[in-house]
Amino acid sequence: MKENLIDIYIMGEHHQVPDSLTILQAMEYAGYRLVRGVGCRGGFCGACATVYRTTGDYHLKFALACQTKVEPDMQLAMIPFFPAHRPRYRLSELKGTADEVLRIYPEMLRCYGCNTCTKSCPQDIDVLGYVSAIVRGDIPAVADISFDCIMCGLCVSRCPAELVKHHAALLCRRIYGRNLAPRSEHLQKRIAEIREGKFAHALAELKGLSKKELQERYAARDIEPEE
Ligand code: SF4
Ligand code: SF4
Ligand code: FES
Repeated sequence: MKENLIDIYIMGEHHQVPDSLTILQAMEYAGYRLVRGVGCRGGFCGACATVYRTTGDYHLKFALACQTKVEPDMQLAMIPFFPAHRPRYRLSELKGTADEVLRIYPEMLRCYGCNTCTKSCPQDIDVLGYVSAIVRGDIPAVADISFDCIMCGLCVSRCPAELVKHHAALLCRRIYGRNLAPRSEHLQKRIAEIREGKFAHALAELKGLSKKELQERYAARDIEPEE
């Protein structure tokens, strides 16, 4: 099949690439060898944060390069690393009280409420929503709202208050998982069963399977219904 080539600009340089490619694939097609700014290629690691503009539109747009197709006349730049303030803390010393996160990240109180962060998030997360929950000290709400954060840093790149909220939200998820989330009773029971050797035979059988057989078993597995 004949490829439909379109014009794009990578860091200001003109290239012609097939319109079927993702931004990441288009950069490689254009000759870039990506050693930073690429990881999972599946939309999970946040390494491929990309900023672009299209002709005739003054808006800056934000995307993951591995998940977004090229468009004609795209002007592309990648932000594989964004320098961010990262306070140090000992998770084991934190208890999950409402004021703990603000003691470590007091600058969160400087949020102007402009919502630019939400508009920049390629995961469609309500970033201002979780920043507000950080300010309220509602750690479970932060953990819930920010659950899909992939730490790409795009929300920080445009924040007029220079807040590293994705790191503060990660701290909340850590505190929530360690101190606040309900303990999973069936998990404890299952761990005890594994220790007693209840699944030793099944595990030995799995270890003997080929990669293809394992993939078939995985695809055919029963998936627990979401509550
Ligand atoms: S971009 Fe910064 S200042 Fe604006 S709402 Fe988000 S965190 Fe607050
Ligand atoms: S909240 Fe920020 S760091 Fe997390 S995915 Fe959205 S833009 Fe990226
Ligand atoms: S390469 Fe991991 S999210 Fe794009």
